[in-house]
Amino acid sequence: MVRVSVPATSANLGPGFDSIGLCFDLFNVFEFDEIDEGLCFEGFKEEFCNENNLIYVSMKALFNKIKFKPKGVKIKLVEQNIPIARGLGSSSSCIVAGVIGANAISGYQLSKDEILDIAVEIEGHPDNVAPALLGGLIVAALDDNKPYYSKIEVNKVVNFYALIPDFMLSTEEARKVLPKEISLKDGVYNVSRAALLVAAFAQGKYELLKIACSDKFHQPYRGKLIENYDDVMNECNKNKALSVYLSGAGPTIMAISEEKEFFKEKMRTWLVQNKMNWDIIELKINNQG
Ligand code: HSE
Repeated sequence: MVRVSVPATSANLGPGFDSIGLCFDLFNVFEFDEIDEGLCFEGFKEEFCNENNLIYVSMKALFNKIKFKPKGVKIKLVEQNIPIARGLGSSSSCIVAGVIGANAISGYQLSKDEILDIAVEIEGHPDNVAPALLGGLIVAALDDNKPYYSKIEVNKVVNFYALIPDFMLSTEEARKVLPKEISLKDGVYNVSRAALLVAAFAQGKYELLKIACSDKFHQPYRGKLIENYDDVMNECNKNKALSVYLSGAGPTIMAISEEKEFFKEKMRTWLVQNKMNWDIIELKINNQG
């Protein structure tokens, strides 16, 4: 039996659409076994117990790559801690678990980078699967679908607060509202901020995040899918968040703050006062993956 823990991630970080992602210390836990025959699931809802299960699809992708045929496979969901379809990497946790589990069952034939290549191929972009596999803040670019990346170990002096609404938003739906083309002006806006963001994290210049985390590629379009989006963003800013951005494809809004309990308590009180059934959790940076 192989046990695999996969961390939550936050993709995009504002301007880094499909290219920047950060890893946290919140985990989904899975177990994998090669069994005598068939496909066996444990711990999943009935609707996920079939060949379309993303974990199994990801296992098959790795098995096919190395031409390995297991007799049978058992997949167990041990702990589901990453909120589902909220922009915190729950789907990518399935992909990463599947490829790691399959690599273990087949005798560890592939390196981490080779596993990453397969995971990126499945997800289509690198900014969740790469930080989940590698930890820290990952900056990644695809060339012919192959990821080239660099990792920054993030100093843990800043605090991340995930404000999680009580509804799901699939990445597929959230990608449908994006524009097909971007103006040069918006391109310059984002590319300059993405570069500033990476430098700010690398050098610990967190005061730059206020400017660096804003975005014109996806947030203005996806924000419209989220009830109370502007109010929550404004309230985070009023409570002196260093920056606020839409985590991944949303709907979670992520606030970065130097304040600890103060920020969380202020936001919690405001959510209750406004009868908004949002959860708020503190996430710690995970530089290991
Ligand atoms: N970069 C991706 C997106 C992350 O924004 O669509 C979500 O999987």
